[in-house]
Amino acid sequence: MKFSSFASGLLALGASLASAAEVVKRASLQQVANFGSNPSGVKMYLYVPNKLATKPAIIVAIHYCSGTAQAFYQGTQYAQLAEKYGYIVIYPESPYKGTCWDVSSPASLTHNGGGNSNSIANMVTYTIKQYGADASKVFVTGTSSGAMMTNVMAATYPELFAAASVYSGISAGCFATGTVNGWNSTCSQGHSIHSQQEWANVVFNMYPGYEGPRPRMMIHHGSADTTLYPQNFNETLKQWAGVFGYTYGQPQQTLSNQPASGWTKYVYGPNLVGAYGTGITHATPMFPQDDLEWFGITGNNNASPSKAAPPATTHAAAVAAPTTTLLACVRPSTAPATPSSAAPAAPAAPASKGGCTVQRWGQCGGNGYTGCTACASSTTCKKMNDWYSQCV
Ligand SMILES: *[C@@H]1O[C@H](CO)[C@@H](O)[C@H](O)[C@H]1NC(C)=O
Ligand SMILES: *[C@@H]1O[C@H](CO)[C@@H](O)[C@H](O)[C@H]1NC(C)=O
Repeated sequence: MKFSSFASGLLALGASLASAAEVVKRASLQQVANFGSNPSGVKMYLYVPNKLATKPAIIVAIHYCSGTAQAFYQGTQYAQLAEKYGYIVIYPESPYKGTCWDVSSPASLTHNGGGNSNSIANMVTYTIKQYGADASKVFVTGTSSGAMMTNVMAATYPELFAAASVYSGISAGCFATGTVNGWNSTCSQGHSIHSQQEWANVVFNMYPGYEGPRPRMMIHHGSADTTLYPQNFNETLKQWAGVFGYTYGQPQQTLSNQPASGWTKYVYGPNLVGAYGTGITHATPMFPQDDLEWFGITGNNNASPSKAAPPATTHAAAVAAPTTTLLACVRPSTAPATPSSAAPAAPAAPASKGGCTVQRWGQCGGNGYTGCTACASSTTCKKMNDWYSQCV
C-alpha cells in the first residue's frame, strides 16, 4: 500500500533524525547519568559529533590521574577528529579523589567483577545500543593511569574491543595491590619483571575461559619516563606478545622515526606494535591520527609491515605536528613516599627554564621533575601533590 509505505518511510526518517535513541546533545561534551549498572560509580561523558556516521565506531578515551573527562576532551583531538570521521567518543571519569583509575583491585581486574572496568564496559554496551554503533569497531585509548586502564579494559573485556592504543602505562595486572585505587611502586618503578608467559597468564586469568578474539594492541612509552619507568614498556610488550603468541625479543620489523621523529616502532605482527620515544618523559605526546589508522577508522592499518617510514621530520616539523602532550599519571597524594633510604635527597626545585613553555595540562613541577616550569599564557602552575604540578 502506498500510504502505509509512505507513512513508514516518514517514521523511519523521523527515527533517524530525532530518534529517542539520541541521548545527548551533539557536538559537545555531555554527561550521561543512567547508562545501566554502574557498580563502581564511574561517571560517563559522551561526545556525539554533528556528522555522525551510520553504524558509527566508538572510541573510549580514558584520562590520566588528576584528569577529568572535560580535561581529556579538551586536551586531546579525538572529539575534533570525530567530526571528520563520524565516530562517538566516550570519556569515562574516575570517581576517586586524585582521580586515578582503579587498576589494582580484584574487582577491576576481573571480567564483570564490579570495578571501574565493569562500569566502563557497561558504557560501551549502552552506547552501542543507543546509537546503533558498530560493535566490531570499538576502541580504547588512554594516557598514564588511563593507559593502565586501557590495558585492563583490553584484558578484562577482550570481546568488546577491536584495538587499543596505550600511552605511558603499565602491563595489565602490574598495579595489583588487592586494594581499590592503590598505588604499586614496585610496578611504577619498573621492578615487576616477568616472562611473557607469566604476564600472558595474568591477562588470561582476568577473564577465565575466554577463547575469542582479542584487541590489537599498540603500546607507547618514553625512554625518560620517571613516573612509570620505561621497563614498563618492555613488560607490557612481553605481556601482549605472550597473549598473541609472538616472541618478545623478536619483533618482525623495527621502523625508525615512527610515529614521529625520535620514536621507533617495533612491529611484532598485525596484533602488536610497540612505539618507544627516545628522551620522551612521562608527558608523552599522543598521536591521534596514528591511532585512527591503527584502529582502522582511517587509511590502512599501520601494523601492515609494508608501510614505509616517512622521511625524518625536523624538530620544528615535529613540534608543529598535530600531537597533544598531556601529563599523565600522578602518584596520588595518599601513596606512600618513595623509600627514601636508597633515594638521593630531592634536588632543589630547578630554576624556571627559559625558552620553553609548558602547555595547558602539562607538568611544570614536582619532586624529581627537571623540565620546563613556565606555563603557557593564561595558565598557571598549580601544585597537585609533591610529585606533580600542572599548568591549568
Ligand atoms: C605490586 O604488584 C606486583 C605485581 O606486579 C605484586 O607482586 C606486588 O605484591 C604488588 N605490591 C603491592 C604493595 O601490593
Ligand atoms: C626495553 O625496550 C627498549 C626499546 O626496545 C630497549 O631499548 C631497552 O633496552 C629495553 N629494556 C630492557 C631492559 O630490555
